[in-house]
Amino acid sequence: MNLNQKAAPIQIALDGTPASGKSTVGTMLADRLGCDFLDTGLMYRAMTYLALENSLSLDDADALGLLAEATSFSVRQGQDGSWRLMVNDTDISDLLHSEFINRDVSQVAAVPEVRRALVRQQREIASKRSTVMAGQDIGTVVLVNAPVKIFLNASVATRAARRTRDAVGNSEGQRYEAVLSSIKRRSQFDANRVDSPLRPADDAIIVATDDSSPEEVVEEVLSYIATKLNRTGIPALTEEHSV
Ligand code: C5P
Repeated sequence: MNLNQKAAPIQIALDGTPASGKSTVGTMLADRLGCDFLDTGLMYRAMTYLALENSLSLDDADALGLLAEATSFSVRQGQDGSWRLMVNDTDISDLLHSEFINRDVSQVAAVPEVRRALVRQQREIASKRSTVMAGQDIGTVVLVNAPVKIFLNASVATRAARRTRDAVGNSEGQRYEAVLSSIKRRSQFDANRVDSPLRPADDAIIVATDDSSPEEVVEEVLSYIATKLNRTGIPALTEEHSV
């Protein structure tokens, strides 16, 4: 399947709770679908990094909003196949998963001025090329007209166990208990923010990933995508995925 050969870009909204596997599954899906992958969580992480680097107060919504407006984002696929977030044309993806960022990212992401600026760029990126876009509000706010919406979830214990083993997500080698409490705190904060809270869209399918490998999740989601796109009248899926 190559979504970038379609007449108009096709958007796949891939939301989910923190550490539910969005970036692993999203990267594999984009690869199978022949399209781009944007992890919007990295954009909020990058804003947090820049705010801390510029010593901005995290309570100063105006300053954070101005910083977000002045920051440009794009994606690029690295030699190893991973999708990199370019921030003002610089790849800082590897700096964005520290506990330092985990601690403050939900607060920065709750600022409406920041969300407005990032959502504008997310829509712009998705309007140019077919994209699997991972986040928390893609199906509910960013790409409400996406023809396919998926919401990944798993118990907080499963998510913490996976994140503890994840070389990228836990580059500092934190222990399970610390990872668990960080993920719990972030999940609650994100679900309770006023602007665009973390939640599935009414028309999303919810995929529980506790008992599945990433490959199994990808197969399940791919056959859902094929069904959904065929029903929406977007033809030319490969035999393997047509229904
Ligand atoms: O996906 P990830 O866990 O890396 O996201 C980091 C944080 O960014 C989330 O905990 C949330 O606060 C914020 N976020 C958001 N909206 C999105 C994606 C992420 O608020 N679409």
